[in-house]
This record gives sequence, structure tokens and C-alpha cells, in this order.
Amino acid sequence: MNYSGKQLSEIACVQRTSDRMVQECVVVPVPTSRFEGQKPGTSGLRKTVKVFQQKNYTENFVQSILSAMGSGLEGSTLVVGGDGRFFMTEATDIIIKMSAANKVSKLIVGKGGFLSTPAVSNIIRKYKADGGFILTASHNPGGPDADFGIKFNMSNGGPAPDAATNTMFENTKSIQSYNICPDLQCDFHSIGVYEYMVDGKPFTVQVIDPCADYIELMKSIFDFDQIKALVGGEGKLKVLINSLHGATGPYAEKIFLQELGCPPSSCIKTNVLPDFGGGHPDPNLTYAADLVEAMRSGVHGFGAAFDGDGDRNMILGQNAFFVTPCDSLAVLANNLEHIPYFKKSGVKGFARSMPTSAAVDRVAKKKGLECFDTPTGWKYFGNLLDAGRISICGEESFGTGSDHVREKDGIWAALAWLQILASKNTTVEELLKEHWTEFGRNFFTRYDYEGCESKPCEQMMKNLEAYISDPASIGKVYTALGKSYTVSAADNFSYIDPVDGSTASKQGIRIMFSDGSRLVFRLSGTGSSGATVRMYVDSYENSPDKLFGSAQEMLAPCVEVGLIISQLRELTGRQEPTVIT
Ligand code: G1P
Ligand code: ZN
Repeated sequence: MNYSGKQLSEIACVQRTSDRMVQECVVVPVPTSRFEGQKPGTSGLRKTVKVFQQKNYTENFVQSILSAMGSGLEGSTLVVGGDGRFFMTEATDIIIKMSAANKVSKLIVGKGGFLSTPAVSNIIRKYKADGGFILTASHNPGGPDADFGIKFNMSNGGPAPDAATNTMFENTKSIQSYNICPDLQCDFHSIGVYEYMVDGKPFTVQVIDPCADYIELMKSIFDFDQIKALVGGEGKLKVLINSLHGATGPYAEKIFLQELGCPPSSCIKTNVLPDFGGGHPDPNLTYAADLVEAMRSGVHGFGAAFDGDGDRNMILGQNAFFVTPCDSLAVLANNLEHIPYFKKSGVKGFARSMPTSAAVDRVAKKKGLECFDTPTGWKYFGNLLDAGRISICGEESFGTGSDHVREKDGIWAALAWLQILASKNTTVEELLKEHWTEFGRNFFTRYDYEGCESKPCEQMMKNLEAYISDPASIGKVYTALGKSYTVSAADNFSYIDPVDGSTASKQGIRIMFSDGSRLVFRLSGTGSSGATVRMYVDSYENSPDKLFGSAQEMLAPCVEVGLIISQLRELTGRQEPTVIT
């Protein structure tokens, strides 16, 4: 409950109550000047650590976020937590000192500054906070030479919508000073309540156990006993959970080992490392290749990996049977009645990001429910979730989640799968095959070209913009690898939010073909430098002899057509993608 003795001796304290020490702090305004490019992307501001370490860089952005809260700032309660990556501790310290100086009345901070992204979302909602800082660059690598990020979530627990991030960005352009309490000292590595007087007003930091609230939430959603009967111990289904040294580590150990009784070898890479062990904490077939390899042995019946901040997931069945995130969303949507939470709350509609395949749309149709396609980025699901229009949503980029929080949630997705497997007494592969037999199969692949030069990529997008605006493009026929495709429609996706009417335009070039296949092109909004091109390819099959083939083979001709139309190879100089999903 108190400062350690060592710190106490260094701090000027006054006694406010009989058992608590209160530090008196002074607000210091620090003159500063703007930094270029502090524009939040798909999910917050992401730059290299070196950029954040520049004098005043982090402070400028934090002040711009706080100022964007306007009159809601004074007296507010905010949450702070990050995924354990390098620079998180320094950033936490800055946010505490600046929140105090900006009239925030209370901060709830994960012990050590650590919280997974879904855990932050839960804490904001549970304790009715006014928002929260998430210190993460998600699936981007960490360490002194890699990436850091700061993202702000609103009082609904979800990522700030465009209107809010635009205000933050405007603030970064006009900033002239920031407020800080430089002498404030908070031992946020110890759980407890720390109190301060800042210019005569009270300010409190409550340091909490990062896992407790999240585990309680999971227990309220799922029937842990039923999952335990499937996976808990000798002779049961063996699971392999890989946290990639990211934020899910402590949560996974508590849930899978302590609560569900899985043997210790079920959870690997659970020690959180500031550089994620030098790896790329992204749960896909490339960066979680060790999970794929281990699953190939056939020993485990279920495998899952999560990203740096714990919101992404990859699901594998026995023998490394891969579940695309698009299919994962559809299968979960079709089986929600097996999860106690949805039994209670009922199933509303579904939503997916536009590049995600339409597999879930088919489930919505069967169930007579609404289904929305939104721009890329979880922030676009927020209004639909808040309005009670959707129960679950997902993105092809390994994001799956529900209205239990306002972020995608990796561990939730793994538990949802296990609950359904337990309840239906089936396997991952069987469940998928049944699903494809009933609904047909949406084949999907994504090609990523990471770390390209920006100029040629921008040129490529300009060319594609011209292509879709040219009426002569419709009807064009392309042949590759023996298959022909006729362009039937093309546009740049735009979205009108059905809840508040806000619009988002230019969210991805779409080229549709007469056989139902589709190409989508976007530039990533989460990279910290250069450009990443994403090409998404999907098609639909329902003839029984084609359902179980390889997606890469099935989609190869359409991929080639995409490369021809975009001239991607010629423009970027890249012959091969860095990641194929
Ligand atoms: C990527 C994904 C997107 C996801 C975001 C944050 O954004 O494509 O679906 O919401 O990361 O995890 P992008 O880099 O494509 O802008
Ligand atoms: Zn993430």
C-alpha cells in the first residue's frame, strides 16, 4: 500500500490519512515543438523505439492524446498497460507523471505497466474508466532497435475512432508545451494504491494484478469445467499454446495450467520478453512456424499462438491443420450456442473487415442475422458492438472477438474453440470439414510484401485507383495458369457507419471477377517505416470434389492475375511476398 522505504526517503511526503503517505507534486509546463508524422495509423502510433526515445517525442504524443479528451480530462480515470515490450516502463512512467499534471484524478495501472490489450479493454469497461493507454506495437517486433507504439482506447474499451485520432493528430501539429510532474515517484512494480497531491488536488495511482480481472471475465463467459474435462491432464486432448514471448504468457499459464489443469508442457514461450526473444510476435504460418512444426508431429489435438499484445490468434488442429481466421470466425459464428455467454445473451449479428472472406456472411444468412463488412481495423466494430447489433466479429489478420470487450481477444478465441470442441465432442478438422460441406468453402490467402520503399507502392495504388475508375476495366479478361477471369466490378471500398453515419473512404481497392473471385489491395497502416503492400485473394467453391483442396493451389491463378493487374513485381522489385497467409 505504500512506497518502499528507500523511495520514501527521497520523496517529500505529507501525511493525508493515518496509513497512507501522500507525495506533493508540482506541475511543470515544458516548452516543446511539433514532430512530423505523429499520425495514428490502423491501430495507434507505431514508430521505432529510437523515434519514441527522442527528447519530448513521447511526451508530445501523450499530451496530444490527453488534450483530445477536452473537458472530459479533468477528474477522469484512465487505465495504463502495455505488452511488456522494450520502452514500456519508460512510457508508463511518463504517462503517470503527465496524467497527474493534466488533472486526471485516477490511473489504474497493470503491475509493472503490463496488461494485454484485451485486458485493458476489460478493465476500462469493468471499472467504468474514461479511457486508457495501451503501450504496444502489437505484432511488430520489439527491442531497442525495433518498434514501440501508443494507442488510446475510449470509455467503451475500444480503440479511438477516426474522429478522436484526427483530433490527436491535429494537436500534435500545434503543440507548444506539455505538462508534467517530473518529481512524482510511483513504484508501479508493486501492487497497491499510491496517492499524491498535485497543486492541491488529489491524484491516485492504483497498481493492479494484470491477470485477475481477465481470468474472472473468461470464467464468466465459458464453462471451464467442460473445457477441463476435454484438456485437463493425462489421457486428455493435448493442447499446445504458444505465447511467442508476448503478453498472453502470464494469462495463458494461469488459465491453461492452473485453471484447466493442462500439463506444464502445454504452454510454451510464456515468459514475456522485451524483444519477444528476437522473434516477430505475429501468430501466422511464417512467424509461428515453430508451433506449426510441433503440431505436425500429431501429438497435440489443438494448437494456438497469440501476438505481442494478446489480441491476435492462430488456431491449428492435429497435424497442423490450419484454420484460416476467416473460417475461424464463420465456425465460431455457427456454433455460438455452445458457449454459455451467448446462450445467456443470445446471438445478435456478425461483422468482418472487408478483406476478410465472406464465409461468415453465409452463416448469418442461414441464421437470419445481420452481417456487416467494415474497413480494416478493430475500431470500426466498436459502434456495432455498442449498439448491440453484433455478437462476434473478426478480421482475416488473425483477429477474432466478441462483445465481451471492445478488442479482439486471442485467449478468448482459443477458449471459444475448445468449448465448442468439448461441447460437440469433435475435432478441429472434422468441424471445419462439416462446415465446408454445409456452407461451401471460401478459399482465402493474403500476400504481404513488407518493408518496401514507399514511393513505388504509392504509385501502384495510384495506378490501381486509375484502373478501377476506368469503365473499360470492366469486362477485361485475364488468363493465368490455365484459368481465365473476367472483371465484373471494381471500386475503392468506402463505409458508412450504420450507427452514427460517419464515413471512411478509400479503404482498399477491390477487383471482383465474374466467377465470384476477388482481389483486394491495401497499404498497411501499422508499419513503422517504409510501406507494406497487402494483396488479399479469395474465391468460393461448393462442388464437393473441390472442398478439401489446398487454398494456395486453388488460388494460384487468381494470385497471378492480381500480380499482373497491379504490376506489383515490376513496381516494388519484389518477386516473392515476405509472408503468405
Ligand atoms: C493490420 C491488419 C488489420 C488489424 C491491424 C491491427 O493492419 O491488417 O486487420 O486490425 O493490423 O492488428 P494493417 O497493417 O493492414 O493496416
Ligand atoms: Zn495485436
